Amino acid sequence: MQVEISGQKLELHQGDITLQEVDAIVNAANSRLAGGGGVDGAIHRRGGQSIMAETDAKYPDGCPTGSAVISGAGKLPAKYVIHAVGPVWSGGSRGEAELLAGAYRRCLELAVEHDCRGIALPALSTGAYRYPIDQAARAALSVAIEFLEAHGKPELVRFVLFDAGTYGAFAAALEELTA
Ligand code: APR
Repeated sequence: MQVEISGQKLELHQGDITLQEVDAIVNAANSRLAGGGGVDGAIHRRGGQSIMAETDAKYPDGCPTGSAVISGAGKLPAKYVIHAVGPVWSGGSRGEAELLAGAYRRCLELAVEHDCRGIALPALSTGAYRYPIDQAARAALSVAIEFLEAHGKPELVRFVLFDAGTYGAFAAALEELTA
């Protein structure tokens, strides 16, 4: 599914984020940037050790929840990995929505600051961090739409959703937000 926002592409794609041939892919990291399973495991496995070596050296204090940092992409087809830290879901009254929006916003800012024409993002916080998928999808897409409307770039914002259920939730949210 694809829509145009301010002349730029906003896309939903079902697949594996590590295979995306775009300038930047986003990792669903933790605040220690310590690696893990899910997206994080796949990125470090496929990208090789240079990614962790770089984040250890550049960001020894990690990255706060609700923000993101950038590194090279090692052996991956992308140029950059943006390590975003979404919130752990704990009921919705601990600022989760603001933190999730902040993480996505920082990813898009970093992509633009590094002249990325295309960025691929996963459904942050919806795996190990248990954020309800429908709310996460609306939050993610609202940030992307607002950012594209405000900045007119990057040229391509692609959400890469791993399974059909997650894709379906994003597709429903996108239809609702662009109706
Ligand atoms: N490509 C795209 N999406 C993927 C991939 C992949 N290769 N692997 C998993 N996913 C999906 C999951 O199905 C889920 O919908 O990404 C979404 C986010 O799941 P997680 O990777 O578990 O991320 P998150 O919920 O943000 O939890 C982050 O998990 O791996 C650890 O170190 C990480 O502690 C951090 C936490």
